[in-house]
Amino acid sequence: MHAVNYQFTYEIYDSISELTEEDAWLLEEARQVTEQAYAPYSNFYVGAVAKLANGEIIAGSNQENASFPVGLCAERVVLASVASLFPKIPIETMAISYQSGTVESNHPISPCGICRQSLQEYEGRVRAPIRLILGGQSGKVYIIPKASWLLPLSFTGEELGI
Ligand code: THU
Repeated sequence: MHAVNYQFTYEIYDSISELTEEDAWLLEEARQVTEQAYAPYSNFYVGAVAKLANGEIIAGSNQENASFPVGLCAERVVLASVASLFPKIPIETMAISYQSGTVESNHPISPCGICRQSLQEYEGRVRAPIRLILGGQSGKVYIIPKASWLLPLSFTGEELGI
């Protein structure tokens, strides 16, 4: 037997003002796109904005449904749009923000498990990392260089012969 240690490095900034101009702009866009979310059931409005390698900007927000499992997270709305509109183009950076009607929106949130799986698949499809910028409407900001680092020991298409 031997034990394996998994670790990765990410950056923590005290506020959006410490980011580069482009990163700050992307996070600000993600903050604003929370306004487009349809989240009457959770009152948790998420916005995601992707900057593609071809310079395109694609935004999305969570879209809930009275049949709860039908709802889509903001991240997967963006991934589906990118894959449909610009197939094979890498996503360089995705900024993710939120605002809530019930809890403070002053710290970063991290993508849910299903979105981590989807982000990883997109990285694999285009063979390029997706850099994540995570932040609330205020407060600290996390930058994670590669989304799939959030999903160690993951199941991938390789297991299916892809
Ligand atoms: N949600 C997202 O859109 N992205 C995340 O990273 C976490 C959760 C949505 C799903 C649901 O509509 C609401 O937030 C509460 O879970």
